[in-house]
Amino acid sequence: MRATARAQPNIALIKYWGKSDVARNLPAVGSISITLDTLYTTMSVEFDSAIDEDRLTVNGVVDAAMLPRVSQCLDAVCGRGRQQASITSQCNFPIAAGLASSSSAFAALVVAADAAQGGSRDRAGLASLAGLASGSAARSLYGGFCELENEGGDIVVRSLRLGSEWPLKVVVAVTEAGPKAVGSTEAMEISRKTSPFYERWVEQQGDDLAAAREAILDRDFDRLTEVAEHNCLKMHSVMWASRPPMIYWNHVTLECMQVVRDLRAQGTQVFFTIDAGPQVKAVCSPEHEQLVADALSGVSGVKHIMVSGLGAGAAPVEDE
Ligand code: PMV
Repeated sequence: MRATARAQPNIALIKYWGKSDVARNLPAVGSISITLDTLYTTMSVEFDSAIDEDRLTVNGVVDAAMLPRVSQCLDAVCGRGRQQASITSQCNFPIAAGLASSSSAFAALVVAADAAQGGSRDRAGLASLAGLASGSAARSLYGGFCELENEGGDIVVRSLRLGSEWPLKVVVAVTEAGPKAVGSTEAMEISRKTSPFYERWVEQQGDDLAAAREAILDRDFDRLTEVAEHNCLKMHSVMWASRPPMIYWNHVTLECMQVVRDLRAQGTQVFFTIDAGPQVKAVCSPEHEQLVADALSGVSGVKHIMVSGLGAGAAPVEDE
């Protein structure tokens, strides 16, 4: 009744922003992402008839705030009549700071919980359970490049390409280590209700998904660059025009974006993307990884740099 799983966070190139159904956590738009390899969450779940309530520790510290979401996710995987569980999570990168830590956490949680009960579910089933807890987590069940769609209330994730088929690199520039000001669920609802750009955002998403999907299938870096930066800036425009506005960037974020654009003007294959936080993720071709990492670490105010390739999806690992 104990199992451990590991999952990597994913970074959306075509973003999920907005829900069509808050109670069922269904996205209003599809999304396309890449799953990383060197950043990960390792999650152990042990069902134990001797304990009378779930317990959660994150990086060695009891986490009462996160426990209700975790318990609810275990109920979804194992049923409400399940035994109580002791859950231990270890994350090797900053949590809740716009680095998609909830995607790796909930992907690892559903895989570990299912494995602890004999591992009867397939990847698609686990992805839709992870998506109930955190929309982006469904994508971390898959490696490389994948696309998520809400097909009439069912979350469907499809692999577009393996990471080994187009081994791009991601350089993450951490510009602020603390947790984000407004969580994504609340922020998405503020945008849906108040941003004058929200409807257009939802309407146009199909075009951006099609362009990115084709660019990935053709391994066309320039086309992916154009649509990914456009989609990222459009999502942030929706946020900026919300009431109250949500501005996740700081001046270092802007500085990093400029460095990426300057590198590109000099012929480097690189583009940026930014989620609900101030960190900049620079996606680049493998031969330009060092150049991009050196340029971003040279930006004053960048706290540290993390470099990752593309990895496989969430999977059980040996118990530690
Ligand atoms: O999965 P959530 O609820 O943390 O939302 C993710 C939102 C973005 O990271 C901004 C975009 C995305 O598609 O990952």
